[in-house]
Amino acid sequence: MAVICGKLFYKGEIITAGIEIEDGIVKRIDKKLEGEQIDGLILPAGIDVHVHFRDFEENRKETINSGSLSALFGGICLVVDQPNTNPIVDGADEYKRRMDKAMKESYVDYRLNVALTNRNSDSLIETLKEIEKDYFVPAIGEVFIHHTNPDLQIPYDTLSMIRKSTSKLITVHAEDPALIDEDSTQAEIKSVERCLELGNFHFCHISTYDSAIKISDSESTFEVTPHHLFLSYDDLQNLGSFIRVNPPLRSRVEAEMLFNGLQLADIIASDHAPHTLEDKKDGKPGFPGVETMYPLLIYLMKKGVIGVRTIVKLISSNPARIFGFERYGEIEIGNYANFAVFDLKSVTKIRADKLHTLAEWTPFENFDAIFPRRVYIRGELAIEDGEVKIDPGLHKHEERSGTE
Ligand code: NCD
Ligand code: ZN
Repeated sequence: MAVICGKLFYKGEIITAGIEIEDGIVKRIDKKLEGEQIDGLILPAGIDVHVHFRDFEENRKETINSGSLSALFGGICLVVDQPNTNPIVDGADEYKRRMDKAMKESYVDYRLNVALTNRNSDSLIETLKEIEKDYFVPAIGEVFIHHTNPDLQIPYDTLSMIRKSTSKLITVHAEDPALIDEDSTQAEIKSVERCLELGNFHFCHISTYDSAIKISDSESTFEVTPHHLFLSYDDLQNLGSFIRVNPPLRSRVEAEMLFNGLQLADIIASDHAPHTLEDKKDGKPGFPGVETMYPLLIYLMKKGVIGVRTIVKLISSNPARIFGFERYGEIEIGNYANFAVFDLKSVTKIRADKLHTLAEWTPFENFDAIFPRRVYIRGELAIEDGEVKIDPGLHKHEERSGTE
């Protein structure tokens, strides 16, 4: 049993209190508790519901090991990995193989979506049942309405059929293939409209204010990324061919509108999509971002641009609620003791060579940020002052089968 004391975010307020931790779980939160004094602000560690940790045949771009270390340094305790790997995770065997790898190699808690492809669409519901005997599957997704791989580009009819066959959360990358070349902004907005007619979804990386408004008027939910909020195609000068990402960066005005409408968003997620430098030079779309998301937001909190409640909601409590991750989301009695501790005085510039992804670059080079000084995963001190204190391999408390 351990007690840590300091300023913490509890039930929507910053209070000064102690947190008693037993077997990785928060047992008590009380102003009278005495224990180790922690400098800085204790927040719930983040959840990133959209990462691409590659591995398998693409382990030059990222591995579960490197991606999860990057997540940990960014104050993230749980990731949802996407199955558009090589090979694609569209069956029970591939799913198990990847979860076995994460079990041995991940630094943070790890969940994996199952892919919808044109090959598995008839059997997906059966496959899902099979996988769910052993694992908690967060969602079917990311379903691509547009993709260069024809097996991954899903027609609306197939999406509709799957939507009708299960109540499972489905996450959608909404860009309409018919419009993508002539007007990529409309490609997103029209695709969101079409999907909303088919049912409820969780929309990945929404990049326009119009889409945000339409989704927030529905039962569906959506995420925004730091790059669509804080970058725009004005950054072309700095980023050159590296600027390619799906959906593309928009105008500065659009990014500002999206940011000003942040209260409409349910989740902030990174869409961490690393590639090799060669691939980026060749124009492969995707940005790394799992390590920089929380630190960018905390810096903006210090500047008074975003409130702590908004940040915690977008990065922790809503992801836990929407994806059904029990014992995550808030610092609360009965929840896992997953914390990120930020010292608001330690502002640093983001530098690619200090990050832990294999991507070797960041679109946020030189941006101000506040990285967590400490990260606790289930009560264990996992990061302290830039040093990793734990071995990879999912924590001993991590349940194999779905209790969530
Ligand atoms: C994603 C990737 O690289 O896996 N890239 C991206 O730009 N977001 C795939 C995708 O969403 O197109
Ligand atoms: Zn995507």
